Amino acid sequence: MIIAVANQKGGVGKTTTAQAMTAGLAAQKYRVLGIDLDPQGNFSAACGAVNYNVPTVYELMKQTVDIKEAIQHMNGGYDVVPANIMLAGAEQELSQTGKEHRLKEAVSAVVGDYDFIVIDTPPSLGVLTVNAFTCATDILIPTTAGIFATAGISQLNETVTSVQKYCNPGVKIRGILFTRFNPRANISRQIRELAEQLSEYISAPIYQTYIRSGVVVEEAQANKADIFDYAGKSTVAQDYRAFIEEFLKGVDE
Ligand SMILES: Nc1ncnc2c1ncn2[C@@H]1O[C@H](COP(=O)(O)OP(=O)(O)OP(=O)(O)O)[C@@H](O)[C@H]1O
Ligand SMILES: [Mg+2]
Repeated sequence: MIIAVANQKGGVGKTTTAQAMTAGLAAQKYRVLGIDLDPQGNFSAACGAVNYNVPTVYELMKQTVDIKEAIQHMNGGYDVVPANIMLAGAEQELSQTGKEHRLKEAVSAVVGDYDFIVIDTPPSLGVLTVNAFTCATDILIPTTAGIFATAGISQLNETVTSVQKYCNPGVKIRGILFTRFNPRANISRQIRELAEQLSEYISAPIYQTYIRSGVVVEEAQANKADIFDYAGKSTVAQDYRAFIEEFLKGVDE
């Protein structure tokens, strides 16, 4: 299963969710590969992967190295392909036909080695995110419970529909995950209704688990640790654990 974690809106918890899934699934003895497909390199940094003077996902997209040369084995028992700012050039440099398929082609060599491949994507719907959707079997959409954050999801859905039509008919949106949730600030009825309409419109469920806000997320990332190692008892770790359980239940069905 190849999961693209995507939302063109910035700061909604894509990287945090991708890292929690990578580490959390690996802790359950699944074979997991995390791929950083964001020039910001936040996922690489948070995992403690090296992302300079080493082959990165950029070289994979340019087809100048084999994916096996770019894979790093991390202490948490999972593998990572890192990214850095070089990837920002990919949009312009990949102009040839078939540019949407570059990641899929690179990943095909190792797809059998992993139970889950988790792709962290940048806050845009450009060629990188389209590569992630073309490579993926499933798309997970983290969002905050703001009116603007939820509104962008219909635009995201249009990109998914276009990828289904031209590049990857099998890909589907698996669900929407609310993150950075503040339980004290009651989610407004307006947002709840909007979210339900969206869920119906994109025919994907909203996960029952909401990820609450907690300062431990930034602390863990600053310490290059995953949330379970850094603060396993925190509410955020509990929420991500519950989410992974809910996610896996959905995969079994
Ligand atoms: N549950 C949470 N509680 C508190 N802070 C959080 C939580 N999830 C994410 N954050 C913080 O919010 C910021 C944005 O999170 P993150 O980097 O995961 O979002 P993103 O969608 O990947 O952003 P970008 O679009 O820039 O890639 C980070 O500083 C992160 O530490
Ligand atoms: Mg990110």
